[in-house]
Amino acid sequence: MNNYVRIFDTTLRDGEQSPGATMTSNEKLEVARTLAKLGVDVIEAGFAAASPDDLEAIKRIAVEVGSTPAPGHAEPPIICSLARANKGDIDKAWEAVQHAKRPRIHTFLATSPIHMKYKLKMDAEQVIERAAEMVAYAKSFCDDVEFSPEDAGRSDPEFLYVVLTEVIKAGATTLNIPDTVGYTTPDEFGNLIAGIMKNVKGIENCVVSVHCHDDLGMATANTLAGIRAGARQAEVTINGIGERAGNTSLEEVVMALHTRKPIFNLETGIETTQLMRASKLVSNYTGIVVQPNKAIVGANAFAHEAGIHQDGMLKHNETYEIMRPETVGVTQTTLVLGKHSGRHALKARLAELGYNFNDAELDKAFERFKNLADKKKMITDADLEALVADELYQPREIFSLDGLQVACGTMGMPTATVRLKGPDGTVHVRAAIGTGPVDAVYKAIDSVVQSPNTLLEFVIHAVTQGIDALGEVTVRIEGTNGQRTFDAQDEAEHTRTFGGHGADTDIIVASAKAYLSALNKLLVASGEYGEAEKASQVEAVA
Ligand code: KIV
Ligand code: ZN
Repeated sequence: MNNYVRIFDTTLRDGEQSPGATMTSNEKLEVARTLAKLGVDVIEAGFAAASPDDLEAIKRIAVEVGSTPAPGHAEPPIICSLARANKGDIDKAWEAVQHAKRPRIHTFLATSPIHMKYKLKMDAEQVIERAAEMVAYAKSFCDDVEFSPEDAGRSDPEFLYVVLTEVIKAGATTLNIPDTVGYTTPDEFGNLIAGIMKNVKGIENCVVSVHCHDDLGMATANTLAGIRAGARQAEVTINGIGERAGNTSLEEVVMALHTRKPIFNLETGIETTQLMRASKLVSNYTGIVVQPNKAIVGANAFAHEAGIHQDGMLKHNETYEIMRPETVGVTQTTLVLGKHSGRHALKARLAELGYNFNDAELDKAFERFKNLADKKKMITDADLEALVADELYQPREIFSLDGLQVACGTMGMPTATVRLKGPDGTVHVRAAIGTGPVDAVYKAIDSVVQSPNTLLEFVIHAVTQGIDALGEVTVRIEGTNGQRTFDAQDEAEHTRTFGGHGADTDIIVASAKAYLSALNKLLVASGEYGEAEKASQVEAVA
């Protein structure tokens, strides 16, 4: 048993399955690049059989991320596609991943009594036979085959031993044990893994993996219990996004292993200083906001509010801090740059934060930096990150904000006038009244863009403290434009969710930018403005 734990990231597969986490193929590619930089060992890039768009997105990741190592890494990550245990799915998975330097096919079949009886309508013998047959089929394409007995957490361990022994004989190299419905406790799950380590023939030549869901809030604890019992791969997602209550969060497992090294004595290949960046990227692309008290990457994870705590921190940071914020990429420098700082200073600071911009990108960032410096005296790392995020996370611009004015308060109707530049350069000016200034702005924008949608979520927060702080807005909208993608036979129109992000010292401007960025994604996905950018939604796999 070695002391290296492989990090298998399934943000782009199990994570993307969570309601509203749909990402465009460009966004998926950027997430995959970020995961490679972060140092994950395996990227589960999607579920190829879900749709042609999914297959294409995985293929792109296999070619662009899976064939060359990310800077600072010796090897590119393994690129994996999920496949149900049938030939059609496995063919598609192979088609999607074959161009990666290190491809993997991950196939699964349920083994719990309830799944076998009601979902699969198969008996135990049939499940054993199908699992072994499909692993052998996957192996005929690819050396690296992972098998998951779905709902293992509620399966009979003795039956699991038999299924796992057979799939090893058929060629499986990684055995992933999912607690699909987040039902087990850490003791139970740890014992399940220990039993598998002891009773499955050939297990010593395979990697045992754990895959937990958070329905009872125990996903991280269960994953760590599985690792302590001998698992050497953890299947996780950034920010813990995933089906229902989510998957195990990558950052929690990695930082638990890192911070409590004397207990675990285990390593991962993760560059922990990139954790915060990855978290923000996924949150901005999906529009799924990280709860402020979320471990490691929540806005309050390193904030000390109580006087007694602040006093302790001033005396010695270890009084109340078990990890340094900078270890996970939380930047806390207060005064970084000001109005008189030049392009060089900005470039150097951005590089220290991990952003290596080319000249054109730096020009854009510098212009935004100068505009901000006119309004805000002290520009912190957090401000810079918000500015850069605002630039990086924007989709292709169909409509852009060219001007905005609002009147609101207690003495009249909240009224907004917006000036938008359209795709052909035409300038549109519209005014609207609303229940408040943001509502008025959104109504005015709607009257220009005319793309029906429902606002699902609107979240605003201040990037730093102080009256001149930058406001960051994240929105999620549900639109009806776009193609159905799960099943190629079912092309019916359906609703899809798009996230948008905006930052500005004026929160109404930030709100308008965020809404426009979500609308632009919706418009691009509809195909009305040139080639549709592919987005996909994997449904109901697990
Ligand atoms: O939760 C689950 O069982 C899964 C499998 C497909 C690995 O996501
Ligand atoms: Zn899962």
